Amino acid sequence: MNIQDTINVLRKELNDHNYRYYVLDDPIISDAEYDRLLRELQVLENEHPEYITADSPTQRVGARPLEAFGTIQHRIPMMSLANAMSVDEILNFHEQIMRRLGAERQIEYVVEPKLDGLAVELIYENGQFVSGSTRGDGTTGENITQNLKTIRGIPLSLRTESQPAPELLEVRGEVFIRKNNFKKLNNQREAAGEPVFANPRNAAAGSLRQLDSNITATRPLSFFCYQAGALEGVHFTSHMEFLSTLKDWGFPVNPEIKKVNNIDGAISCHKELETRRNVLPYEIDGSVIKVNDYALQEALGVRSRSPRWAIAGKFKAQQETTIIENIVLSVGRTGAVTPVAKLRPVKVGGVIVSNVTLHNQDEINRKDIRIDDTVLIQRAGDVIPQVVKVITEKRPLNSRPFQMTNKCPECGHEVHTPEGEAVARCQNLSCAAQVKRRIEHFVSKNAMDIDGLGEKLIDQLVEKKLVHSFDDLYRLVADQLAALDRMAEKSAANIILAIEKSKQTTFHRFIYALGIRNVGEHVSKVLEKAFDGDISAFMSANVEELEAIDEVGPVVADTIVKFWADDENVKVVNNCFNLGITLEKNINKTEQIFKDKTFVFTGSLESMTRKEAKEIVESLGGRASASVSTKTDYVIAGAGAGSKFKKAVELGVTILSEKEFQDMLK
Ligand code: IVH
Repeated sequence: MNIQDTINVLRKELNDHNYRYYVLDDPIISDAEYDRLLRELQVLENEHPEYITADSPTQRVGARPLEAFGTIQHRIPMMSLANAMSVDEILNFHEQIMRRLGAERQIEYVVEPKLDGLAVELIYENGQFVSGSTRGDGTTGENITQNLKTIRGIPLSLRTESQPAPELLEVRGEVFIRKNNFKKLNNQREAAGEPVFANPRNAAAGSLRQLDSNITATRPLSFFCYQAGALEGVHFTSHMEFLSTLKDWGFPVNPEIKKVNNIDGAISCHKELETRRNVLPYEIDGSVIKVNDYALQEALGVRSRSPRWAIAGKFKAQQETTIIENIVLSVGRTGAVTPVAKLRPVKVGGVIVSNVTLHNQDEINRKDIRIDDTVLIQRAGDVIPQVVKVITEKRPLNSRPFQMTNKCPECGHEVHTPEGEAVARCQNLSCAAQVKRRIEHFVSKNAMDIDGLGEKLIDQLVEKKLVHSFDDLYRLVADQLAALDRMAEKSAANIILAIEKSKQTTFHRFIYALGIRNVGEHVSKVLEKAFDGDISAFMSANVEELEAIDEVGPVVADTIVKFWADDENVKVVNNCFNLGITLEKNINKTEQIFKDKTFVFTGSLESMTRKEAKEIVESLGGRASASVSTKTDYVIAGAGAGSKFKKAVELGVTILSEKEFQDMLK
């Protein structure tokens, strides 16, 4: 193959992987592999610049910073949407449509999540991305072509296997940031001492407004398209047909978009989106309901600023005002002392909120939060409620400012804020509050999984000095438990049984249960693999050995070494072993029957949960993946298996029943 062919093959491969990742949501290579291919292409293009094309994946970055953005006129104005604040108003919207269209008929609607990002327009001429702009005032937008090119979900040229490219295609959609990426971005900014973004929308807007597209390229921007602009050389009869063709052309279309037969269907979709709002991976502020048929859209026409064939169905406010009745301090597992506002209970987005963390004194000062203040509360996308701001107009004359004391509210020990940190910590490891939280963590489901040991019981055990550290749990006898408040003999016996049962555990559960800072569930599993389940090797590992492990960085290595340097910790752990805790070695080399095998579970399993199935596979050296690809070795199909089953048949992947899977385990 000559160089030019090699370059073309690489480009096609990269574009295909992009398409699988962003459009089909079914990647078959890792990000690292993608980057390797991209670098390979970059090297070849550097040696042969004559073969560089504008739509090469390498051309997404590297443009020179602009002095200012130019402007772009929209061929067709980018309108906004009228709002429906209630189901009645959605019905009203439908009735008006029926009135305008005259005859009785069924109307198909398309219901889409209303993404909370920035509307943009992308222009493709003969299949090539030529320019892109913001909505601006609806008539004229800013030319942000270079910035849009950096977004990997936006195709630089159309895929034309199933549909040729039209002469002109204008696609509109939303640029946004996913909740997880938003958190990561803000964490990075905080670590670098940069100001954090208030919400994903602001982060997306700030990122698109960069004059240097190389900065935009570092931001985790996503894109979904949802509307047509001007079209030439192609014709669609419905919105759904347009969206499905966009997908074939390589555009990401939100998989949540649904077509329904009538307004009742649209209303149920709207309600369903509202209930799922907090579990969606991005923020939405409503639904958009659109008439599907383009001829009907045309007949209905537009008002001055919004079309008559679409409406935004707003969700119940996720913001409410209430009063701060008190501010108290709460002590966490790691000794962090956090101010918490006790609120007059208020329903926010369907959930009653009565506590909200104020994080630290700096935050209280910055927002000037006082006891008796009226505050605006919001449940953000990640569900944790927060104080947006104080409504100062409603501040009573006798509102009380709050100042944290430097004594732990629980044990009276000194509270200290380490240099460069915002969080105050109680330095007393024996502080009852810390002990309680540590025990709660130790017994939790994914740690030692001791059933029946709830918060109230742990409080009593610690207060009565029956339990001070983890090993004390294994010294408890039924009589001691039965003597506690609200404890029947039977339940005391059950708890002793659960404690007994927990003694047989695994390396990673035990390590996770210890609550070493920065060592979560995932890192615990990584450590189990790295030390082959050998706890004494782990306890005596030094920083170099730990850092040599993939996924263990200097911070984690340091906390682990410091943890074992404390004789008290070593003593407690050794006591646990002497009291009967055994770590099953589920990384036994001879048992790795699924080594390097990839499994996909689909449909519902009868004898185990998906999570348990995944754990079994992993404990035997295999991997459980969410999607079927050519790299899948086995698909385990339970009842009601659907698209993954079909895909497995298409790709010729071995399909097993749950029974056959269990036979393999024997
Ligand atoms: S359609 C004429 N669909 O909402 C209809 N808009 O108020 C044009 N938006 O500026 C828009 N998700 O930023 C449409 N699925 C969706 C949307 C959506 C979010 C935003 C968009 C637009 C605003 C209209």
